[in-house]
Amino acid sequence: MLDGKRVLITGAARGIGAACALELAAQGAAVLIVDIDDEEVNTRADALKRSGYAVEAATVDVTDAEQIQALAARVEERWQGQLDVLVNNAAILDGTSLDELTRERFLQVQDVNQNSVLWMTLAMRPFLRRSNAARVVNVASILGVVGTPDCVSYASAKGGVINMTRALAVDLADDGILVNSICPGFVDTRMALLPDGSGHEHETDWFKDIYIKYGRIPLKRAAQPADIARALAFFCGDGCGYVTGQYLMVDGGVSSTM
Ligand SMILES: NC(=O)c1ccc[n+]([C@@H]2O[C@H](COP(=O)([O-])OP(=O)(O)OC[C@H]3O[C@@H](n4cnc5c(N)ncnc54)[C@H](O)[C@@H]3O)[C@@H](O)[C@H]2O)c1
Repeated sequence: MLDGKRVLITGAARGIGAACALELAAQGAAVLIVDIDDEEVNTRADALKRSGYAVEAATVDVTDAEQIQALAARVEERWQGQLDVLVNNAAILDGTSLDELTRERFLQVQDVNQNSVLWMTLAMRPFLRRSNAARVVNVASILGVVGTPDCVSYASAKGGVINMTRALAVDLADDGILVNSICPGFVDTRMALLPDGSGHEHETDWFKDIYIKYGRIPLKRAAQPADIARALAFFCGDGCGYVTGQYLMVDGGVSSTM
C-alpha cells in the first residue's frame, strides 16, 4: 500500500498514465497528474476526485524547461518539498518511415519520449531526496529492445529510456532514489489506433491471426492499461526496496516468442 505517499505522474490524462493514477490513488497515495492536454487532465482529475481519491491536475508540457520549473515550485509549495514517486510516462507515438523522417521530427520524439525523463527527474530530485523511500519509474516500451518497421525515432528514444534508467539508478543511489522502468507490449490505448485513421490495431486481421490465434502473444490478448498500472505499482512500493536499474516487460509474454 502507498498510504500517505506523494506521487507525480506525467502523461496521465488518459491511457496508461490515467490507469496508474487510479491504481496508486486506490493504494492510498496523493497523486498529481500532469499532461499537456489541459482539458482532459482536469476532467480526469475531477472524475477521480469525485470517486474519493486525492488527485490533482497540472497542465505541463514535459519538454518545456520553464513549465517543469513551475511544476517543481508547485510540488515544493503543495507537498512541503517532498515527493515519494515520480512516474515518467508521457510520450508520443511515431511511425515515420526512414524515407520521410526529418531531423525536426526525430529530435521532437527524443525530446518528448527520452529527454523529458532526464529533465523531470533532475527537477524533482531535491524533493525525492527528502523521501525515505523514493522511486522513479520510467515507462519505456517493448520497442526499447526490439525493432519493427518505421519505428526508428520511437524505438531509439525508448531504448534510451531503458539505459538512462540504469545510469540514473547508479547516480541516484546515494540519494536513496531507486530508478526502474517498465516495458509495455500491446496496450489498448489511443496509441493502438492506426496512424492512418483506419481503425484499431488490435482489431486488424493480422493482429488477431499472428498475435492471438497463432500465439505470438502467449497470453493471447492485448493488455488493458490497468495491467500495466498493477505491475508498475510494484516499483513504487516497499516490495521494491532492493531493486534498481531494472526493466520489466509487461507484454503478455510477446518478447519471449521473438
Ligand atoms: N499503448 C501501447 O501499446 C504502449 C506500448 C508500449 C509503451 N507505451 C508507453 O506507455 C506510455 C503511455 O502511453 P499510452 O498508450 O497511455 O498513450 P496515450 O497517448 O493514451 O497517453 C500519452 C499521454 O501523454 C501526453 N503527452 C504527450 N506529450 C506530452 C508532453 N509533451 N507533455 C506532457 N504530456 C504529454 C498525452 O497528452 C497523453 O495524455 C508512453 O510512454 C508510451 O510510449 C504504450
